[in-house]
Amino acid sequence: MITFSVNGKQVNFDGDTTMPLLWYLREELKFIGTKFGCGIGSCGACTVHIGQQAIRSCSLTMAELDGQNITTIEGLAKEDEELHPVQQAWIDFDVPQCGYCQAGQIMAITNFLKDNPAPTDEDIDEGITNLCRCGTYTRMRKAIHHAAALMAKKGA
Ligand code: FES
Ligand code: FES
Repeated sequence: MITFSVNGKQVNFDGDTTMPLLWYLREELKFIGTKFGCGIGSCGACTVHIGQQAIRSCSLTMAELDGQNITTIEGLAKEDEELHPVQQAWIDFDVPQCGYCQAGQIMAITNFLKDNPAPTDEDIDEGITNLCRCGTYTRMRKAIHHAAALMAKKGA
């Protein structure tokens, strides 16, 4: 039995341990905000948080999850709290186009900003490797700077 938590709720898993976490999140738990893009760890559409790290959930198997705390885009803003500053910045700058990559972008960027609270454009280009087929990179960069400012204001 593998035990871990997803968005604060404990999960006991007794199935196929070779299944990628992404499948489990989408097909079993119905957290469909996490998207399937490439399936080979390249695009970042499936990014979630495992503890303090941003991880591509298509490339992690159930066998690796025992004792871990997983957060998906659905768990980023707690029910009784306001949006995460990155989510607010995404709205303020109207970032998404088709939206498909955006949950993964937001999960990668919230994690990135913890280690880089005042990033330059170069830091962003190096640190965020998630792909966006719609090419929203310019709006994302602006929104990341805005989110960093919001986080600094809140002391987040
Ligand atoms: S679907 Fe996981 S990195 Fe592309
Ligand atoms: S907004 Fe369409 S793929 Fe990024």
